[in-house]
Amino acid sequence: MAGVNAANVGGHGTSRSRATPGPSGAPLRILDAVPGQELDRSRPDDRRWCAEAIRRVEADANRSADTHLHIFPLPGDWHIELYLKDESTHPTGSLKHRLARSLFLYALASGWVHENTTVVEASSGSTAVSEAYFAKLLGLPFVAVMPRSTSREKVELIERQGGRCHFVERGPDVYDAAQRLAEGCDGHYMDQFTYAERATDWRGNNNIAESIFDQLGHEPHPVPSWIVVGAGTGGTSATIGRYVRYRRHPTRLAVVDPEGSAFFPGWQAGAVDYTTGLASRIEGIGRPRVEASFVPTVVDRMIQVPDAASIAAMRLARQATGRWVGGSTGTNLWGALQIVAQMRAAGEQGSVVTLICDGGERYGRTYEDDAWVAVEGLELAPHLEAIGAFLAGSGWYGP
Ligand SMILES: Cc1ncc(COP(=O)(O)O)c(C=O)c1O
Repeated sequence: MAGVNAANVGGHGTSRSRATPGPSGAPLRILDAVPGQELDRSRPDDRRWCAEAIRRVEADANRSADTHLHIFPLPGDWHIELYLKDESTHPTGSLKHRLARSLFLYALASGWVHENTTVVEASSGSTAVSEAYFAKLLGLPFVAVMPRSTSREKVELIERQGGRCHFVERGPDVYDAAQRLAEGCDGHYMDQFTYAERATDWRGNNNIAESIFDQLGHEPHPVPSWIVVGAGTGGTSATIGRYVRYRRHPTRLAVVDPEGSAFFPGWQAGAVDYTTGLASRIEGIGRPRVEASFVPTVVDRMIQVPDAASIAAMRLARQATGRWVGGSTGTNLWGALQIVAQMRAAGEQGSVVTLICDGGERYGRTYEDDAWVAVEGLELAPHLEAIGAFLAGSGWYGP
């Protein structure tokens, strides 16, 4: 086998030497290609390991059931149905199970992850919980880089899977810290914020959108008027938005966004580089910058939701359905109920779908705790009254 040189690394050797700028701007000598040279980088052991890793991830999916689509109780004479796609029932308890599976498959199929590669991720917690699970399944070391404010419950879930947690003081510092950590250990920075939108097959393959449409098949309004989701990476909204266009459905996509997040003002201003630099109080959604995986062109509408309204709606969801849901589900529900109210006021019939992103047991020390709510200065009462009155049949008189 010929030795490695600049010509055969790039595979674009020419018959004459030429100078091209290198990464530092200095000329890089491309050596003469000698006929008969070749470079073979096959690694049969690595391919065998990769094949086994993909089998394990696929087998995990094969052992898992699809998530339920529950009915949220609305008065029957409204002729509007509201559905909750319950992503909390995945093996790792959140919609991030789908993303983590996709990201691992994407990284494996791209040749980025090998036996013993340390996988590093920047996360607000839920993705790290799910990635820790897949890393353990593959026998890989895993490091989660998260804001120090991440709920203790999520930290425990990551550590229980054998993952290590590395904390930063400020939310926006997670990206650089994760990149540096991965470089420092020759690991792989998974980078959900960049790759979420492309790691999932938006055409189908039982992605979340296809699953929702299949499950609505026998419902009174099987093609929903609206699907309402939050954005963390933006990957879920990108998948759903692309899917409905591809399948030529008239369904519109609404993205709900918490206080401090860059998605809403960035979308409003048409600025993909918009930043607020602020951490979101609603874990999992709302970012200090518009993330690369957020695809603004597939979003039909955005709704800013006050944090107190998210937490009020989260608590109300438990009363109305008996299900203990997380804060971002409250954000979703608040947006979905507003849309239902507008449909009702306009005399429209149809269906609306939103997501249970994760369960409330992760937030017992925060959103579920009245003392924490008081310390944060959040006033839930006016929002609880508004939703209660709406569900009892009055109009939407939100504060
Ligand atoms: C807990 C949690 N994580 C993440 C997300 C956002 O998903 P994505 O990263 O696909 O935008 C949500 C969305 O509502 C969520 O509730």
